[in-house]
Amino acid sequence: MTEREALELDAADPLPTRRAEFRVPPFPGAPGEAAYFAGNSLGLQPTALRARIGAELDDWARLGVEGHRHARRPWLPYHELLREPAAALVGARPAEVVVMNSLTVNLHLMMVSFYRPTPDRHAIVIEDSAFPSDSYAVRSQAAFHGFDPDEAVVRLAPADVPGYLRARGDRVALVLLGAVNYLTGELLDLDAITGAGRAAGAVVGWDLAHAAGNVPLRLHETGADWAAWCSYKYLNAGPGSLAGVFVHERHLADRSLPKFAGWWSTDPRTRFQMAPTVTPVDTADSWQVSNPPILAMAPVLVSLEMFGQTGMDALRAKSIRLTGYLESLLDAALAGRPACVITPRDPARRGAQLSVRVSGRDVGPVSRRLREEFGVYTDTRRPDVIRMAPAPLYNTFHDCWRAAVALGAVLADGVLGG
Ligand SMILES: Cc1ncc(COP(=O)(O)O)c(C=O)c1O
Repeated sequence: MTEREALELDAADPLPTRRAEFRVPPFPGAPGEAAYFAGNSLGLQPTALRARIGAELDDWARLGVEGHRHARRPWLPYHELLREPAAALVGARPAEVVVMNSLTVNLHLMMVSFYRPTPDRHAIVIEDSAFPSDSYAVRSQAAFHGFDPDEAVVRLAPADVPGYLRARGDRVALVLLGAVNYLTGELLDLDAITGAGRAAGAVVGWDLAHAAGNVPLRLHETGADWAAWCSYKYLNAGPGSLAGVFVHERHLADRSLPKFAGWWSTDPRTRFQMAPTVTPVDTADSWQVSNPPILAMAPVLVSLEMFGQTGMDALRAKSIRLTGYLESLLDAALAGRPACVITPRDPARRGAQLSVRVSGRDVGPVSRRLREEFGVYTDTRRPDVIRMAPAPLYNTFHDCWRAAVALGAVLADGVLGG
C-alpha cells in the first residue's frame, strides 16, 4: 500500500470527488486538511450552505412576516421543495415522505399511529445492538400503553429476527430495526425482514439514520409500513438537523389511524381559515405538527440537491470502491495486532462504515491520537469499537491510505492507554 497508489486511484476514479464543495476541518500538515471519517456521525458542512442560510436571513430582515409568502423561496410551502428529492433518496413516492422534527421525535410520532398494542399482541422487536435512543423510545411506548417494557421489548440479533417472527410473530405488534446498524455497520435485508414481519401480521418500521444517503433504498417497493431518518450523518445537513419520515402509501388515506395533530397537519388550502378541527390530507404531511423551521430546512435542501446531482447509484458505486479499499488497507495494517474489522465483509451487507474492534482496550485514546497526530477523524463506541466511514461525496482513496497508515502506527507503538 503506497501513497502513490492511492493518489492514482483518486485520479482514475470515474466519479470525481466533490470534496472542494465541503468545509473540511484543517490539519496542520500535508495536505493541510483532515482525513474525515466521521460522516457516519456528523457529515461535513457544504460550502454552499452559508449563503443559502444567509439568503433566508436576508429575506427575513428585508420582508419580516411577508417572507412567508414573498421570500425567494416562500416559507409557507418551503417543505414542499424537499418532498421530491427526499422521496428519490429513499425510494419512495413523493406523497409518502415529509421532512420534519428530529429522528427520535419522529419515531414516537410514527409509533403513535403504528404501535397499536393489544394484550395478546404487544411485543416490539428491536435489534440487540439497537441505538439507545430507539431502545428508550420503544420502552417508553410500551410503558405508555401500560405494558412492562422488559416483557414487551424483544431484543434479537438481526439474523434471528425472521425465525422469531415465524415462531412467535403472533405476539409482535411492531418490528423496528436500524437498516444499517450504528455499531457494526451491517446493512440488513430490508425486503426479507419487512416481508417476514408483515407475514406475521406485525407493523414494520425502519430507522434509516445510518442508511439514508449511505445506501440506495427502495422503501415503497420494500413494503415497509414506515421509516424515519436523520440528516446530520451522510446527508451533511448539520448538527441536530431535521429528520425525515416515510409512511407507505397504503396508510395515507387511513383516517382511522391515531395521530397527534397540529396546525401543520391540516390541509394547507384551508389552514388559515383557522377552523377548530383538522381537514386531513392524504399524504405524509398529515403527520406534521408544527410550522417548519426554515433556517433548519435550508441545509436539508442543499444536501438533497447535492445528492440529486450526483445520484445515489453513482455514490453507492464509489462508496463500495472506497470502503473496499479501506478494508484491504486496514486488513494489512491490523495484521498481527489485537484489532480487526467486525463489519460484514460482503459489500452487499454493509454501507460505507467499517467498524474496527480493538480487543480489550479503550479506544478513546486511539481515536484521539489519530485525530491529533495524524489528522484522521474517526469516532468511537466505547469500550472497544472505532468507526470509520469513507463518505463518497468528499472522502478520497488518499484519505483511506492516511487512515490505515495512522491506525497501524498508533496500534504499533502500543501506547493504547495514553
Ligand atoms: C440509529 C439511530 N437512531 C436514533 C438516533 C437519535 O437521533 P436523534 O438524536 O436525532 O433523535 C441516532 C443518532 O445518532 C441513531 O444513530
